[in-house]
Amino acid sequence: MGPVGLVTAISLARKGCNVTGIDVDENHLRQLRKGDAPFFEPNLSQELKKPAVRKRLIFSDDSSLNSKSDITFITVGTPSAQDGSAILDNVRSAAISIGESIRGIKHYQLVAVKSTVTPGTARCVVKPTIEKASGKKLREFGVCSNPEFLREGNAIRDADFPDRIIIGSDDLKAARYLEKFYRLVYRGNTPPIKRTSYENAELIKYANNAFLATKISFINCIANIAERTPHSDVTSIADGIGLDERIGRKFLNAGLGWGGSCFPKDMRGLISYSRASGHIPTLLEAVVETNERQKDKALALATSMLGTLKEKSIAILGLAFKSETDDVREAVAITIIRGLLAQGANVRVYDPKAQGNAQKIFQKSIAYADDKIECLRDADCCILVTEWDEFRSLSPGDFTKLMRTPVVIDGRRLFSSRRMIEGGVRFAAIGLGPI
Ligand code: UGA
Repeated sequence: MGPVGLVTAISLARKGCNVTGIDVDENHLRQLRKGDAPFFEPNLSQELKKPAVRKRLIFSDDSSLNSKSDITFITVGTPSAQDGSAILDNVRSAAISIGESIRGIKHYQLVAVKSTVTPGTARCVVKPTIEKASGKKLREFGVCSNPEFLREGNAIRDADFPDRIIIGSDDLKAARYLEKFYRLVYRGNTPPIKRTSYENAELIKYANNAFLATKISFINCIANIAERTPHSDVTSIADGIGLDERIGRKFLNAGLGWGGSCFPKDMRGLISYSRASGHIPTLLEAVVETNERQKDKALALATSMLGTLKEKSIAILGLAFKSETDDVREAVAITIIRGLLAQGANVRVYDPKAQGNAQKIFQKSIAYADDKIECLRDADCCILVTEWDEFRSLSPGDFTKLMRTPVVIDGRRLFSSRRMIEGGVRFAAIGLGPI
């Protein structure tokens, strides 16, 4: 019942399916039964409390309940090992519980793997593990690879209106069964469904995230060139190239680098898989390297504007890896704060949702403001790290009146540079050339 599992469960319950959400974490289950989401996602708690959802969605730690279902989605986490490869232990344990629960049942059950996994996992891990634990042979049950593409912060909408559905299986019965299910669920709104092999489906998921991460690292590279080019601005360049239909404007927002629970982990997973299979993925490694360097930009800009950071008071606006989430996993803000502390700066932070999660990491080593205004008060420099909507309304006057020195680094291109500079702010932004 993490982000993928819970959102899928809610979306399917709303579409009329009876859903059992299985998890091993008793605390999460207790919260979920009360209608409280264990993490922040827009509308998630509201959806959980709706009678139409409550009627069709139950939560349990009893994986034997699985035997009653027609389809089981595996939505467990696949964290990175030291060498970057995906750890499949959770997938294996899920496959064992599924196998044990379907031993002896008479009806056909389909198992769909939504977790992001190494190519070959459905065929070489999930299928044989279920066969062993259930005493059944494939075709008495089915296995499909069915990757998920929902984004945190927009997860419910993405689950309700997916761009496409990928069904990977060499077993025609299983693929047809899952396709029929999705056509029933989405009816007239069924998106394109692509059927392919297990491995293609698994690689589509990795390649999808790798392409998006590449697009961002590309525009961040152009941003660095723009910063050295008088009168240039990466936002305008992104708008210009984005008009080319072959390129498109989405995922061309320059910033302090990509983070989160997916891109970094999946890039490591794909690179590790590629190397292990004999190909050195030079492009993907450069994408990651570009991103690592991008995370250092905030500190470099702050140092160039303030001289030294020692004992300077730095306000950080935004901690989450992007807006509309409380997730700080591999968030750029974490790297920036660690760098600031190492240089002896005093750090005060504000995030509308992610403060609690950041507190688990930094505890008392930084200060936590109750709002954006308190965060800015008497600061020597403000670094905008996450593009929360509520930061857009900050005016040049807020910075000049509240801060000791109004030095602002816009890491997400949220503010109008002209307005800030004309309003007396010492302003620097990613991808903004000298004027
Ligand atoms: C990503 C994919 O977009 C989803 O399709 C996929 O299902 C998910 O990973 C996953 O594998 O589970 P997510 O990590 O929730 O979704 O967030 P994104 O919206 O993709 O943003 C990732 C990072 O890229 C964030 O740090 C964001 O700030 C950054 N980003 C995004 C940019 O710096 N510039 C952009 O133009 C877009």
